[in-house]
Amino acid sequence: MNPLKHLFDRNRAWAARIRQGTPHFFQDLSKQQTPEYLWIGCADSRVPANEIVGLLPGGVFVHRNVANLVIHSDLNCLSCIQYAVEVLQVKHIMVVGHYGCGGVTAALENRKLGLIDNWLRHVQDVMQKHSRLLEANPQDRQLARLCELNVVEQAFNVAQTTVVRGAWDRGQELTVHGWIYDLSDGLLRDLDVGASDLAECMAANARVAAMPS
Ligand code: CO
Repeated sequence: MNPLKHLFDRNRAWAARIRQGTPHFFQDLSKQQTPEYLWIGCADSRVPANEIVGLLPGGVFVHRNVANLVIHSDLNCLSCIQYAVEVLQVKHIMVVGHYGCGGVTAALENRKLGLIDNWLRHVQDVMQKHSRLLEANPQDRQLARLCELNVVEQAFNVAQTTVVRGAWDRGQELTVHGWIYDLSDGLLRDLDVGASDLAECMAANARVAAMPS
């Protein structure tokens, strides 16, 4: 008896539903993928990339980790960006955070959770960099603000990778975006730090640094 039989049942029903609409969907998709988007999001179970933007399999290339971090020495994330940009030629990379992020909360409250504290140290770096901005917010608004600032910083990190800078140097059409998702209403918000070249990236960076709160 397979204790996870219900998941296989759901899988068969899901595949049948898609085949009903498009009989050759899976056969066609098995031959190639041509997604236009790379989604870098949080591993949180409540933030599933495809579903949120209503895309079927094949629509979005996805990298997820706790607190949607883009670290310059993380070969996993960097490889994903490189493959998406240079091989799949995606046109957009979106870093997507979410309000109420457990990773960001743990970082803000300096909770001790074990190994993951080392990973979340990167969020604490964001916190320290923007301490003045954060402290200008009331206590109950600081978590939401840090979730937003973390997205902004990670989007900048994407833009600073050798892969993205190389693509821009070659004139490849590629835009980096920073978005945030609201668990309480299912809606995405654009944080308006989108950049299609290094100058736009720097301008967005300067705008955020100059924000009053
Ligand atoms: Co999260």
